Amino acid sequence: MKRTKIFKLFKSDAPVDHMLIKGWVRTRRDSKTFSFIELNDGSCLKNIQVIAESLLDNYEEIRNLTTGSAVAVTGALIESQGKGQKWEVRADKVAIISFASESYPLQKKRHSDEFLRTIAHLRPRTNKYGAAFRIRSEVSYAIHQFFREKGFRYLHTPILTGSDCEGAGEMFRVTALDIDDPPKKEGKTDHSQDFFGKVANLTVSGQLSAEMFALALGDVYTFGPTFRAENSNTRRHAAEFWMVEPEMAFCDLEGNMDLGEEIVKHLTRFVMEECGEDMELFAKFVDKALMPRLENIASSEYVRVPYREAVDILVKSGKKFEYPVGFGKDLQTEHERHLTEDHFKKPVIVYDYPKSIKPFYMRVNDDHETVAAMDVLVPGVGEIIGGSQREERLDVLQARMGEFGMPQENYWWYLDTRRFGTVPHSGFGLGFERLLMLMTGVRNIRDVIPFPRTPGNIEF
Ligand code: 4AD
Ligand code: MG
Repeated sequence: MKRTKIFKLFKSDAPVDHMLIKGWVRTRRDSKTFSFIELNDGSCLKNIQVIAESLLDNYEEIRNLTTGSAVAVTGALIESQGKGQKWEVRADKVAIISFASESYPLQKKRHSDEFLRTIAHLRPRTNKYGAAFRIRSEVSYAIHQFFREKGFRYLHTPILTGSDCEGAGEMFRVTALDIDDPPKKEGKTDHSQDFFGKVANLTVSGQLSAEMFALALGDVYTFGPTFRAENSNTRRHAAEFWMVEPEMAFCDLEGNMDLGEEIVKHLTRFVMEECGEDMELFAKFVDKALMPRLENIASSEYVRVPYREAVDILVKSGKKFEYPVGFGKDLQTEHERHLTEDHFKKPVIVYDYPKSIKPFYMRVNDDHETVAAMDVLVPGVGEIIGGSQREERLDVLQARMGEFGMPQENYWWYLDTRRFGTVPHSGFGLGFERLLMLMTGVRNIRDVIPFPRTPGNIEF
């Protein structure tokens, strides 16, 4: 018989005489003549209650089932006698697949997030982490659906790269050389003998490749892992994180902001409507203010303020910030949060940043001081999207690369697109884990990514 997943049982509108389910024992208790097993198979948050009668021939074994043990249950789906649930299973047979050792760390009590990080291989078996990772899966699907309906093509950009998109130099080096004894040339490591014949890194962003394809296919997006060797051990930075990066031909900064606002609203609405049961857990146990905040994000019109005005607001707030505010200084988390949480009390898009603090590819504005950049800031998280209109003018782009001291010969292919049919184009990066933090109210990025990679931490 084919196994039925437990989430399907809960959707059933009639009893079922004969079916097979498989899962893990969450808890078990005995009465005089029955053993009640709370069974979960990971397909949904709820456990189904299985009633095993003492008449079953392996009843003694069933009574020894420990939390975490795996079983296959054949039986009938019947209307529940008890309250609290609609359906339960009356077992005809409980076949034991394996017993979990008594040392299984996920016993009934609640565990701290910090402890669960030390057992990241087991934490998806808890209610909260199971819910978080089901939501992660659902939202991934919704992202593809969102773009597909708009006619965007999905592009797989390379993970190994020879260029530094953000120009921040925070990259992980990739090499096949023996790093204890590399070949040398003039006292330095000779990368011409390395695998690619030059220095290679893990990508920090798929943007440069996405631009090439936007200028061919129109609207494209990438959605994949990116890597940053920033040594910032904060609750919103990971060394490996996923980014959604749309890139649109014939699109200016305003169109870019429109898309950023639309996707955040759409995905927020999606998660509220489609992940009901899992979302309820977060609204109840993680963040009591979650649902009103998400409603605000899904339905309000986002404020759009130029960077200069944002700086003014921060200066006039009279608040003592840890980091200084002023034209030419990057906004820190505390500033972003003041703008979105205290001042505007809704999502804010800050645009036209000083060119001195932004990468080479952003389009220079007519004031020659700012670039057509935009960041979307949301309550609880701060920056969730970073993007810009791209510099499409060859001479300006070359001048900018000069200012940054970038070797233009490495970017010949990027410059080519500004020679052959260049057009205004724009795009952004949406941090997928930051989006999930926003959606679930989870405070630490380490708790929305299956196996977090942060400074000093690559276990699992
Ligand atoms: O603002 P960023 O650095 O933008 C870019 O990389 C552009 N090339 C994207 C583009 O225009 N195609 O990063 C984009 C987003 C940030 O807003 C943030 O949400 C997330 O990526 N992000 C991180 N998330 C987790 N950990 C980190 N270390 C992150 N760094 C950036
Ligand atoms: Mg940014």
